Amino acid sequence: MCGIIGYAGHRPAVPVVVEGLRRLEYRGYDSAGVAFAGHDGLHVLRAKGKLAALEERLAGEVITTATCAMGHTRWATHGVPAERNAHPHTSNDGRLALVHNGIIENYQEIKSRLTAAGYVFHSETDTEVLVNLIAEKRKTAPSLLEAFAAALREAHGAYAVCLMDTDAPGSILAARMSAPLLFGLGTGENFVASDIPAFLPYTRQVIFLEDGEIVRATANGYEILRLADLSPVQREAQTIQWDMQAAQKGGYRHFMLKEIFEQPRVITDGLAGRLDNAGGQQACSVLLPELDDLPVPERLHIVACGTSYHSGLWGRHLLEEWAGLPVQVEIASEFRYREGLALGQKDMVLVISQSGETADTLAALRIARERGVQTLGLCNVVGSSIAREASAVIYTQAGPEISVASTKAMCSQMLMLALMALYWAQRRGSMDSQARQARLSQLESLPALLDAALPDMHATARQLARKYAQADSFFYLGRGHCFPLALEGALKLKELSYIHAEGYAAGEMKHGPIALIDPDFPTFTLALDDTLFPKVRSNIVEVQARQGKVIALSNPGMDLSVDDLWLVPPLPAPLAGFVALPALQLFSYEMADYLGKDVDQPRNLAKSVTVE
Ligand code: AGP
Repeated sequence: MCGIIGYAGHRPAVPVVVEGLRRLEYRGYDSAGVAFAGHDGLHVLRAKGKLAALEERLAGEVITTATCAMGHTRWATHGVPAERNAHPHTSNDGRLALVHNGIIENYQEIKSRLTAAGYVFHSETDTEVLVNLIAEKRKTAPSLLEAFAAALREAHGAYAVCLMDTDAPGSILAARMSAPLLFGLGTGENFVASDIPAFLPYTRQVIFLEDGEIVRATANGYEILRLADLSPVQREAQTIQWDMQAAQKGGYRHFMLKEIFEQPRVITDGLAGRLDNAGGQQACSVLLPELDDLPVPERLHIVACGTSYHSGLWGRHLLEEWAGLPVQVEIASEFRYREGLALGQKDMVLVISQSGETADTLAALRIARERGVQTLGLCNVVGSSIAREASAVIYTQAGPEISVASTKAMCSQMLMLALMALYWAQRRGSMDSQARQARLSQLESLPALLDAALPDMHATARQLARKYAQADSFFYLGRGHCFPLALEGALKLKELSYIHAEGYAAGEMKHGPIALIDPDFPTFTLALDDTLFPKVRSNIVEVQARQGKVIALSNPGMDLSVDDLWLVPPLPAPLAGFVALPALQLFSYEMADYLGKDVDQPRNLAKSVTVE
């Protein structure tokens, strides 16, 4: 997610803005920029890389007179990390500068129209299109405010934006739609920002803007207006009690917990621009232009590590069931050294990697390329090595994942795999449109369902963690699409709480592992409402016959008798995994936190394993 700060006040504005960006660095970024109002007009400076590179650029500038400025740290979504894609972006006439966080879904059609009208674009971003759309509207609007509002009404998607105008050097215009933007109320100074840490040293008086609202601010005044009709909004400021660190976590105890609760947003952002409703109300097909020029593979090899490998195992169920594709899922460190590796020329190798830098996964990609096989990357980091070296790449749009344990990244990977399965089903004609629409509707219902369910799931996870925290070992059992989730649940418990955990196919227990069961070796079973439920229930009985304690994650109405029944909202298999996953994450999180472990930075782990 990008970081935004805008300032209008009495201090030298550029240092305030740069320091504000530094306090937003935890959000992750690949480039940064500032705009400030000098006596001779707007100045815009940008730099790829960290803030130090931007500060080098600023060193040669006369910045002390500016008391109005804005800044941006970019987490690339459209366009690779590069100075030309860094924000602020300026309009062709040089009079406007804009910073933006979010995704404008219809930017391509707007760009085509503006290009035909003679506008020139220097970046691959949707932001540069938006600032020129405002400039275009300004030609006929009575004021910049009305041009700003008109442009935002035409833009579809998510945005938090901040605009500066050469003709109004002490004023800032800002607005939000489905992306966070706050207003900081100071004395003789005012702020807008993506997050509280940006201006916390200056003021604790915050107004939380709502979707569809604009704020116009100067040093000594501000007004909040409704985007729809520019009618005024009155809203009380709230006093923030957080310290800086708590503010960076959005009030959550750890980044991991914050990122678990971000998963509804991750799904919303992942679906943005990916569904085609053909002019109707309901989404009826999937848009994956990244795949349009690639032939549908005869066989798909999914290759990844760790949590990303578990995503691939889960995705196989959908790709086989929905698209009828033969799929193999491989651990990258095994794939890369297999002597007899058989790859057909019409196969495709799909490498999944949040960081896009995992050494084993990158090596697997290079082997596939050497074999002349089509390669596709599924990554979260724009411009990462895997993203650059794969023949094509799909980005998961999960935003930076700060906690070492991967949570929202897996959710985003599963979402993209579901969309890929539906997309290839479209192309192969392996699913009728009614079934496709039903599944798309279920995917669209996920954010609201998870937003409603997560607080109760967290409370249950907390209660169970306190009951089972003394266990030395845990079994995680699942069948079918729940087997990869059992593996992920075991991985999470291991890497966060350092408790030994085995993820196992429930049907495999009787082939040996059941010898481990005793009253001190609890089993966490995924017993969701699907066709395999009766088999899973039999496995639970086998465990209980050996005095094993059982936690069962299930749905209301399922006939189960276990030590701890954890009910979550039902969803048709395999989409039920989107509800089961956060439950597993929250249980591991609460176990680790209760045991006093370093949740965000577990011992021995790195966020990206760039070595063998
Ligand atoms: C998951 O919690 C771990 N941090 C780890 O298994 C991770 O998923 C694995 O190293 C792969 O990383 P990648 O997705 O960046 O390639």
